[in-house]
Amino acid sequence: MLNEKVAKLLEEQINKEFYSAYLYLDFSNYYVDAALDGFANWFKVQAQEERDHAMLFLQYLQNNMYSVKLEAIAKPDQELKDHMAPLKAALVHERYVTASINKIYEAAYADKDFRTMQFLDWFVKEQGEEEKNADDLIKKMELFGTDAKGLYMLNSELGSRVYAAPSLVLD
Ligand code: FEO
Repeated sequence: MLNEKVAKLLEEQINKEFYSAYLYLDFSNYYVDAALDGFANWFKVQAQEERDHAMLFLQYLQNNMYSVKLEAIAKPDQELKDHMAPLKAALVHERYVTASINKIYEAAYADKDFRTMQFLDWFVKEQGEEEKNADDLIKKMELFGTDAKGLYMLNSELGSRVYAAPSLVLD
């Protein structure tokens, strides 16, 4: 049985992951309005991945006989003043999510909850990748985004991202 603190943190993480999906959908909408369909696609795919993360936390809790209560998802409130703003906000947000996952890990570790630690291992690795992806996007935008042709090429590259289901599967 899950320790109450660990379970509560896992439950809160469902909300954080759905908020991430909502936030990235908001970023996607920003780029749709700016006619940058590749950037919009990239964030739409990211939003799908975040929804998957939320569902994995939900499933894990249910697999451990925890009765999940869903809370309201906050409205995305980032001010998006230029094409770089969503990219920088995404990196800040991913660092926040990493800290949140680490906090759950800490609680599981303190409780010798090896099952939850093993479940979270996938997310620890995933967060490393997501922070790197967000950082790469900022660097590419800094390099190419100020030139119209460069921005066009970068937009085309980001348009090729396709959704893939997570490698972690819970029965
Ligand atoms: Fe689900 Fe981007 O963290």
